Amino acid sequence: MVKLIIDTDPGIDDAMAIFWAAASPKIDLVGLTTVFGNVTAQTATRNALRLVEWAGLDCPVAHGADVPQIMPPFKPSAHVHGREGFGDIPAGEPTGRALDESAAEFLVRMAAEHVGELVVCPIGPLTNIAAAMRLDPDFVGNVKEFVIMGGSLDAGGNITPDAEANIYHDPHAAADVFASGARIKMVGLDVTHQTLCTASDFSVMAHAAPRLGGLLQQMSTFYLDFYETVGKFNGCSLHDPAAVIACVYPELFKTQGAVLRVSVEGVDVGRTYADASAGWAETQVCVGVDAPAVLRLFKSGISSLD
Ligand code: BDR
Ligand code: CA
Repeated sequence: MVKLIIDTDPGIDDAMAIFWAAASPKIDLVGLTTVFGNVTAQTATRNALRLVEWAGLDCPVAHGADVPQIMPPFKPSAHVHGREGFGDIPAGEPTGRALDESAAEFLVRMAAEHVGELVVCPIGPLTNIAAAMRLDPDFVGNVKEFVIMGGSLDAGGNITPDAEANIYHDPHAAADVFASGARIKMVGLDVTHQTLCTASDFSVMAHAAPRLGGLLQQMSTFYLDFYETVGKFNGCSLHDPAAVIACVYPELFKTQGAVLRVSVEGVDVGRTYADASAGWAETQVCVGVDAPAVLRLFKSGISSLD
């Protein structure tokens, strides 16, 4: 059983990742922490609470960073995830509310309560993780592993030619996290651009699990339309689900150690690149994936939800 916190900016593929985690008997979901990115942080918290309620999860939600560490605030990615984060679907209002402590405080407290056991899976900008590091110098050492959806070693970017979106939205936070000495696995575009899901895959899941699989199918039409405008993929990328799946099925991913830096200014801002001379701990970068197995697992998890 993996004790897991997902740090998220829901987001259509975030919703897919959280529903998959809800279905997995191998995951003990300790909580969700929210961050700006695909949507504002306020909307991210509202959406996270809705996902918890839709999935019948019993886990707390902690509200996180509203803006990047240093960069000016960003416009949410409404063209990818819709105005409210779930494509064309209105999220509605949750009945529950977020914890009184912040995302960074919750991360620090959970890591200290579960020393060496907690896996943290950030699937949005890394602002909360960097904030938790500043709050508690023991945080990084207390966490068993960070499995980060973000970055790219050799696959180029998705928000600019060089940068992946989660890193681009807070490059300073990402730079701090990669240089922190934490145990990190990076599930970036090198593997998520190979891990695709088509409209007919979503139909299969909606048929098997009409309520939650059906919700994802409805959300996915917006996301698939965006991918069609990009023009180079057959389907949409399972970015965030791939990272959560990597937390429990690491054997499906081939990794390569690299000391990572993040460009924090200039035309390539947000680019992640290897620089052995940097002198801090290596990140395990996912460079290969058994994509059919990840897709199979994703579909069977979602199909089992209702
Ligand atoms: C990442 O950026 C966001 O748009 C997605 O939710 C995912 O976390 C992919 O680059
Ligand atoms: Ca995300």
